Amino acid sequence: MRLKGKLAVITAGASGMGKAAALLFAREGAAVAIVDINGAAAIQVANEIGAAGGTAYAIHADLSNAQECRGSINEAARSLGGIDIFWAHAGIPGTDVVEDVDLAEYELSMAVNVRSCYLTVGEAVKHIRKRGGGSVILAASIAGLVGSLLSPLYSAGKFAVVGLGKSLSLRYGPEQIRINVICPGLTATPMLREFMGRGSSDEQAVETQKKFMTMIPLARLAQPEDIAKTALFLASDDSAYITGVAIPVDGGFTAK
Ligand SMILES: NC(=O)c1ccc[n+]([C@@H]2O[C@H](COP(=O)([O-])OP(=O)(O)OC[C@H]3O[C@@H](n4cnc5c(N)ncnc54)[C@H](O)[C@@H]3O)[C@@H](O)[C@H]2O)c1
Repeated sequence: MRLKGKLAVITAGASGMGKAAALLFAREGAAVAIVDINGAAAIQVANEIGAAGGTAYAIHADLSNAQECRGSINEAARSLGGIDIFWAHAGIPGTDVVEDVDLAEYELSMAVNVRSCYLTVGEAVKHIRKRGGGSVILAASIAGLVGSLLSPLYSAGKFAVVGLGKSLSLRYGPEQIRINVICPGLTATPMLREFMGRGSSDEQAVETQKKFMTMIPLARLAQPEDIAKTALFLASDDSAYITGVAIPVDGGFTAK
């Protein structure tokens, strides 16, 4: 077991890659707190972990809300008895409008994709420090490494997350808190449909996805488990000397 006795918090852990990581971390011996706006789905994941003999807590929070960002991490730490591992994984595609963008839509995208990351990590490190160090993972995207044709504002937010991760690794390295970033490529989760065209028909979205598939050297979508396994590596001592990196898990999309 690679995370035996560890205490892990995953935001947006009720679906997709976050859920896959919650299940995997628990199988590897961690107690897990799942923070998500979808409270019912978070409870289901926690129940699944419990039924398999693990320990998990579901915490309902809307991470577009600053107070809930802070409150949910502290609640998670109280439930678990501390934090060793924190994966700030919440993100939304958000608006793709540039001209005459609705300011509320702009703010929502930045609140979930950037501010929630900043605030939740700011709380999590206080708890990780008390345990003598640990691992923080941030969820960016290939859109945080190269420009995105479909999602300029999302890309701006994810570039910010990559910069945040590198900067925080400098600040917290001396306290043995490692901070790394995962940059997933196109991943088969419910969110993918929205990336493939907000407001477009399903047929158009399929065509767009086909175009993107030609840009992936490994010629397949990522599965949530591909990303969860990378998170496990970064969470565990297998990556003990790695901090401040942004790892693409993208089938080679950004290699060109
Ligand atoms: N799917 C992809 O192709 C892809 C690619 C690169 C990066 N990502 C990033 O991965 C992360 C998760 O994506 P996924 O594909 O696993 O998504 P998903 O759609 O499977 O799950 C997203 C989860 O986030 C939760 N959520 C949404 N808004 C929230 C909020 N305000 N507060 C708390 N929870 C909230 C949802 O309830 C859901 O459980 C995001 O940061 C996303 O930007 C996704």
